[in-house]
Amino acid sequence: MVTSSKKSILLATGPWDPRPWAAAIRAADPERPLVVWPEVPNPAAVAYALVWNPTDEVFSTLPCLEAVFSLGAGVDHLMGLKEPASVPVVRIVNSDLTQRMTEWVVLQVLIHHRQQKAYDRHQAERIWQELKQPAAAGIRIGIMGLGVLGRDAAAALQRLGFQIAGWSRRPAIIPGIACFHGREMLDSFLARTDILVCLLPLTPDTRNILSMPLFHKLARGGAPGGPVVINAGRGGLQVEADIVSALERGVLGGASLDVFENEPLDPQSPLWAHPNVVITPHAAAASAPEAIIPEILRQISDFEMGKPLANVVDRQASY
Ligand code: NDP
Ligand code: OXD
Repeated sequence: MVTSSKKSILLATGPWDPRPWAAAIRAADPERPLVVWPEVPNPAAVAYALVWNPTDEVFSTLPCLEAVFSLGAGVDHLMGLKEPASVPVVRIVNSDLTQRMTEWVVLQVLIHHRQQKAYDRHQAERIWQELKQPAAAGIRIGIMGLGVLGRDAAAALQRLGFQIAGWSRRPAIIPGIACFHGREMLDSFLARTDILVCLLPLTPDTRNILSMPLFHKLARGGAPGGPVVINAGRGGLQVEADIVSALERGVLGGASLDVFENEPLDPQSPLWAHPNVVITPHAAAASAPEAIIPEILRQISDFEMGKPLANVVDRQASY
């Protein structure tokens, strides 16, 4: 029997089916030893853990771990775990995932901007009626989170002619985009926002940020029917009871939500049936194994040749 001299990968995909991930690893690096949680016959051989929603138990069994790779862009699923602090955590930055998110954001902005929910209702009732339509140039979009995903969505929306602003932790300079940062600039950012797009990570600082006080600060008179909130960041960023109440009271005119406080969204939630709400099942930007695994394996091979890992999460700054 030929044994590989390469260090082992552990795959722990939590609720996701591990098979497509394992197949992508085997296709890209057939000689790389691979074990799939919870079958780990030799924990000391595992150098790399590729994980989604792991438990503490996964890390407690790995004495020789050198790096953890999140299988998604968000790393909140690793918050609160006691995995060895000295092991770097790498997050996904991947053009396929970014492109998928930008498609979703542009679609949601256009559904609200072009009043597609109203036209759907008209079509169901065979009503031929043109609605008054503002130009994109008259609509101010505010993007919370000017990271990899926020910047790409901003560029696509800018190309469509919308006025774009963004909000981040630290100051940013992006041509053609009005950049705001920090809590001290949040109110000014909201006051010039007709359609709010949230692409923030979930951290103690951002939890519950999408709540009634914030909705009241959005601009009025821009988007048809009132301000719109679009969230594909994480469900923990939003207070769903406040979204429902804001929609009922006309504080918000519409919403598009891909993420929820509890997933899957409760069938009893009033959000499902609201005429101006779009619900998608945490599907805005799926991690595609065939796109993501080759990049992780390239990182591992560079790392083994002495190069630094890219996209290492700064746990101090993030949490
Ligand atoms: P990045 O880390 O590249 O960007 C995060 C942005 O948020 C940065 O601009 C950062 O500011 C800003 N930010 C973080 N904390 C704060 C804060 N307290 N106040 C203001 N701004 C803040 O992340 P990505 O763009 O790659 O991804 C964003 C999130 O999208 C992920 O964390 C994940 O939760 C979610 N996601 C959802 C998916 C889905 O299918 N629904 C798929 C993929 C990701 P600064 O630039 O100053 O650091
Ligand atoms: C991610 C996600 O963070 O799928 O990549 O939500």
